[in-house]
Amino acid sequence: MDLFEYQARDLFAKHGVPVLAGEVIDTPEAARAATERLGGKSVVKAQVKVGGRGKAGGVKLAATPDEAVARATDILGMDIKGHTVHKVMIAETAPEILEEYYVSFLLDRANRTFLSIASVEGGMEIEEVAATRPEAVAKTPIDANKGVTPEVARQIVEAANFPAEVADKVADVLVTLWDVFVKEDALLVEVNPLAKVASGDVIALDGKVSLDANAEFRHTEQHAELEDKAAANPLEAAAKAKGLNYVKLDGEVGIIGNGAGLVMSTLDVVAYAGENHSGVKPANFLDIGGGASAEVMANGLEIILGDPDVKSVFVNVFGGITACDAVANGIVQALELLESKGEEVTKPLVVRLDGNNAELGRQILDDRNHPLVQRVDTMDGAADKAAELAAK
Ligand SMILES: Nc1ncnc2c1ncn2[C@@H]1O[C@H](COP(=O)(O)OP(=O)(O)OP(=O)(O)O)[C@@H](O)[C@H]1O
Ligand SMILES: [Mg+2]
Repeated sequence: MDLFEYQARDLFAKHGVPVLAGEVIDTPEAARAATERLGGKSVVKAQVKVGGRGKAGGVKLAATPDEAVARATDILGMDIKGHTVHKVMIAETAPEILEEYYVSFLLDRANRTFLSIASVEGGMEIEEVAATRPEAVAKTPIDANKGVTPEVARQIVEAANFPAEVADKVADVLVTLWDVFVKEDALLVEVNPLAKVASGDVIALDGKVSLDANAEFRHTEQHAELEDKAAANPLEAAAKAKGLNYVKLDGEVGIIGNGAGLVMSTLDVVAYAGENHSGVKPANFLDIGGGASAEVMANGLEIILGDPDVKSVFVNVFGGITACDAVANGIVQALELLESKGEEVTKPLVVRLDGNNAELGRQILDDRNHPLVQRVDTMDGAADKAAELAAK
């Protein structure tokens, strides 16, 4: 989960990384009071989860509260690389900036380690520095068991050639930043710029944090708070609330399967079949897992049938530990459950059952003889039928 700058700023502050005061607002007029609270001047910063805000005109100095309102008016609603600005941060203005550095920690999957990246040439375009002058960027692997001790921080500072007068301060920032990385279960913490100001202090003027969604169980409340609800897809949010593994896609054929691998290949097969049927595509990914109970099946169907883009549904099940008869009963009960809740099922369902107890499962569906359910026994055949129905 990527965070907004103001959220990263809050996490930095919590762990002692030096930051400036700031508050987030979503109306231009609110910039006035916020700027007054900061002593009459501020920096107005677009809050979007994409880099290059400054270059796009999304970071502006305001010398007076009136100017802050004007800049917030300009920036709110602005489009930065396809992201609309809904919020701005009114930040305290840094004292005179003398130098801008770059520091980050991240998970380096390719090398199976954590990595520190540091450069004295920070500012707006670190990617360019890395591409054109790689020697100006110091990459130091971090031992996960040891972490960033003051000694390790010192090594990073030396590897990146930080000037002697800021060495201790930058090392302190690295130790606290590593604390953010570990304690918040982040995959990335980045400060760009880490600014050296006139007083000689170093301050994090911009922050990027990406949290590990796999560690959500350790931070349940916090992750819920940090989530950008405005940007979340309502179907995905509803599915998440029901504990379903669901991803919204932009096609017309709703997909339910058991097992991530089977669902992935179902998406491919449906997309392929769709080429013969007006180019229809899968409408979602939904893995209902091994033990597909009637309740889970009903929850899954409810989400998919609630998607206005869906024209047909393909239920693709390979019976393993949970046998096909149990799944077939699940489908029958799920339809009854939905109908008893007053949710009329009007979209056709194509069901393919194979594997353990397939015959028994098929028999259960045939006996129920639901007008909207069709049984097709091969994956390709079922995909073709579902695509055909969606194209109608
Ligand atoms: N609070 C501040 N006070 C003074 N100057 C600031 C402040 N915040 C940012 N700046 C200046 O604006 C520049 C750009 O700000 P920032 O790093 O937040 O945006 P950005 O780098 O364009 O955005 P992104 O990191 O998303 O690409 C900084 O390098 C710094 O010079
Ligand atoms: Mg930046």
